[in-house]
Amino acid sequence: MSILARQIRFARYGDPEVLAFEPVELPLPAPGEVLLRHTAIGVNFIDTYQRSGLYPVPLPSGLGQEAAGVVEAVGDGVVEFAPGDRVAYAGGTPGSYATHRLYPAARLVPVPAEIPDDVAAGTLLRGMTAQYLLKQTFKVQPGMTVLIHAAAGGVGQIACQWARSLGATVIGTVGSPAKAALVRPWCDHVIDYHSEDWVARVRELTQGAGVPVVYDGVGAATFEGSLDCLAPRGMLVSFGNASGAVPPFSPGILSQKGSLYLTRPTLGHYVASREELLDTAADYFTMVTRGEVAANIGQRYLLADVAQAHRDLAARVTTGSTLLLP
Ligand SMILES: NC(=O)c1ccc[n+]([C@@H]2O[C@H](COP(=O)([O-])OP(=O)(O)OC[C@H]3O[C@@H](n4cnc5c(N)ncnc54)[C@H](OP(=O)(O)O)[C@@H]3O)[C@@H](O)[C@H]2O)c1
Repeated sequence: MSILARQIRFARYGDPEVLAFEPVELPLPAPGEVLLRHTAIGVNFIDTYQRSGLYPVPLPSGLGQEAAGVVEAVGDGVVEFAPGDRVAYAGGTPGSYATHRLYPAARLVPVPAEIPDDVAAGTLLRGMTAQYLLKQTFKVQPGMTVLIHAAAGGVGQIACQWARSLGATVIGTVGSPAKAALVRPWCDHVIDYHSEDWVARVRELTQGAGVPVVYDGVGAATFEGSLDCLAPRGMLVSFGNASGAVPPFSPGILSQKGSLYLTRPTLGHYVASREELLDTAADYFTMVTRGEVAANIGQRYLLADVAQAHRDLAARVTTGSTLLLP
């Protein structure tokens, strides 16, 4: 027996036009696998890197890291999940842009009843990212002032709210006045980095001291400035490349600018074990159910319109998280 699914696939790197919507026959789940029917699919910036070839994947390939759905069938040895369960996942082999999917049960998380599928699908990856960035990579403490770039974006919105709930003063950067208005409720200070000298403004807001940590998912365009915003022995958490990859540099620059720390973390290394995955996801879902983090789905597209979703993400016109509906 097999299931007829439809998947977004691509056979060469390039612009969003390389993405094709194709039928595919899925077999029944192998041992350790489940068959999922997706109800909602998350679009993440990493999907654009994989499509363009910045992060190469073996081709031809599916695309997409994140989705929520319902378990339709389980393979031998799967005891944690049963048909009908609501589940979500973030990470692994690209392929969430699909109506159905086979997926390893060991990498699924249960979705609590209070969390809608849209929120699980659109924000689990970003929520877990905010969790490890703020609570593990650099532990934000009450009273600290932190700088978070692209505050109106998917990770940015969640991270700003979460940092505030940890007792930090949050400085958020954004690329337009409309985005500035959007993030004002959960940023103590908002800087439009298109129209302001944002490094000078961070220095001014911290009375010249600089911040102990910068969370930078923008990459090339902000790297140098982010280092200049740090207090001595501060940490730059460079976690993404929305504006392009950071070019090679000499480590001596970290010494010159104040014995700084630099880390380039990725979610997979923080949720590698089943226990880490379940704990990190549960921590995020708890923040949402308690109302400490509002998971904002900024835009929704039909799965077949994925190319437009990618164009909008790259054009910086999205806010919050982005969903595809199968
Ligand atoms: N390392 C990890 O574990 C991890 C996990 C998840 C995400 N990430 C990274 O986190 C970052 C945010 O991801 P996201 O999916 O939530 O995306 P997003 O923040 O919703 O979108 C990216 C934002 O970056 C800003 N940006 C600045 N320069 C840009 C440029 N040249 N082109 C496009 N955007 C630019 C834009 O906001 P403004 O217009 O306000 O500048 C844009 O909206 C990405 O770099 C992603 O790869 C890393």
